[in-house]
Amino acid sequence: MAMRCRLVVLISGSGSNLQAIIDAVGDGRIPGEIVAVISNRPGVKGLERAKKAGIPAITLDHTGYADRAAFDRALQQQLETLDPDLVILAGFMRILPESLVNRFHGKMLNIHPSLLPKYRGLHTHRRALENGDAQHGVSVHFVTPELDGGPVIIQAHVDVAPDHTEETLAADVLKREHRIYPLVVQWYCQGRLRLEGDTPLLDDQPLESPLRYSEKLERRVG
Ligand code: GRF
Repeated sequence: MAMRCRLVVLISGSGSNLQAIIDAVGDGRIPGEIVAVISNRPGVKGLERAKKAGIPAITLDHTGYADRAAFDRALQQQLETLDPDLVILAGFMRILPESLVNRFHGKMLNIHPSLLPKYRGLHTHRRALENGDAQHGVSVHFVTPELDGGPVIIQAHVDVAPDHTEETLAADVLKREHRIYPLVVQWYCQGRLRLEGDTPLLDDQPLESPLRYSEKLERRVG
């Protein structure tokens, strides 16, 4: 990895994960630079967070393009210009075309609020509650063309309590998200994490199954 890795973060909303990554770059945990934040929705809080941190904030409003392919082309062009070492999907609510995902194979991460392979797609917290799951959580994975289907690097678990609602469960999961996403970006930028075929490697060790986040793990490999 180059001395400072070039990060581009794609968002659609609040950008609290973006903020966690901005903070980790700011305090030196992540040896990288966020060269741009791109949102497909205008006026979202995440764009404000970027501006406040002095990061170029780009809006590519998908509703302003003739069709999906035109938006996808514009996004791809923008990414080619920015030339990132890593593309970070952080609450980006658009499905990317296979060509774009393949172009950034091993260089694109996503965070998904479930213990994948459970609950790909939307409404993960509701589905975990409806199914009476004892545990729920969040996964960070490399992006492949299959939606929420790429190799998982790490998961953080949340015990589901009897009084959890969809909102409070989401909030508890989000706290874990803010721990694990910066950590994974840190490993990537330190040159310790890579994808080989379908297998993520951390410190040259193949991750046959996802790491399980704990503070102990963070102290050990963080
Ligand atoms: C998070 O729950 C993330 O897992 C999901 O979208 C949400 C984004 O939240 N993919 P934020 O915009 O980072 O606050």
